[in-house]
Amino acid sequence: MADERIEGMGGTGGGGEEADFVESVEKYAEAGRIARQVLSLARKKAAVGLGLLELAEELEKETVRLGGGVAFPANLSLNEEAAHRTAAIGDARAIGEKDVIKIDVGVHADGFVADCAFTLDFSGQHGKLVEASEEALENALAVMRAGAPVRRVGGEIQKTIAAKGFKPVENLCGHSLEQYVLHAGMEIPNVARGEYVLEEGDVFAVEPFATTGKGRVVEGAFCEIFSIEEEKPVRLPNSRKLLEFVSSEYKGLPFARRWLTGVVAQPFLDLALADLFKQGILVKYPVLCDEGRGAVSQAETTVVVEQDSVKVMV
Ligand code: CO
Repeated sequence: MADERIEGMGGTGGGGEEADFVESVEKYAEAGRIARQVLSLARKKAAVGLGLLELAEELEKETVRLGGGVAFPANLSLNEEAAHRTAAIGDARAIGEKDVIKIDVGVHADGFVADCAFTLDFSGQHGKLVEASEEALENALAVMRAGAPVRRVGGEIQKTIAAKGFKPVENLCGHSLEQYVLHAGMEIPNVARGEYVLEEGDVFAVEPFATTGKGRVVEGAFCEIFSIEEEKPVRLPNSRKLLEFVSSEYKGLPFARRWLTGVVAQPFLDLALADLFKQGILVKYPVLCDEGRGAVSQAETTVVVEQDSVKVMV
């Protein structure tokens, strides 16, 4: 799940508990093994006519069945949507025969997240676009190691995508991960940018996005995903009930509005979400769309940085 780059901000930062490094890598690997199986189910199931709500729920259920935690709602973004689209309550949309779909899933083991994604082209017209993000990911991983500047990694992504005749999405980034923190502050840009130099033991989700459009995303109107930004005392009973639930259940990781219908009934659910957002307690993840409405592809995996290479967790 992508990090939207906000001009002038270093990153979201966050807490997360300290854990022994070797143990944490084992947890990332465990999450990765489950994520791989969830992705392979997604490849098998995704087909023209399949409902997005059905697909999202099936991937999330499979995660739990395999012993994982759902690190964020299954992102099923279509065409010009680059990221952050998940099924709404009662969502009637289905995969269409001209669609390019990004399937982005997160699995966690004890809060250690494997974040991964791939793109399927049902149109038959965007095969090269899909290849562009896949190759960019491969080339990025090939230059990542302790001491490599992120600018070089982003440059590799940019170069690979440009060589295929597309644009990288410049304001979406890969991101460092920490326990129960999906966007932990450091970025892997999709272009040659950034000052950070990779260190041994860093854990990153790397996610090149390629597009036929502008190469910049803007926020769309739909928003179905939220997470806790800062916990504060809450006065309204429904808001308090909702905050208590998401805090204990998701511990700072993103969650979907459709997961909350059993906690607070409509229309009080939307009022409570709006109330918590207004107080700065929740942040929103609106759907991000290419500004030129071009088709977007994405490839993503999670890695641990080692002395001379990276270890792929998924
Ligand atoms: Co991600």
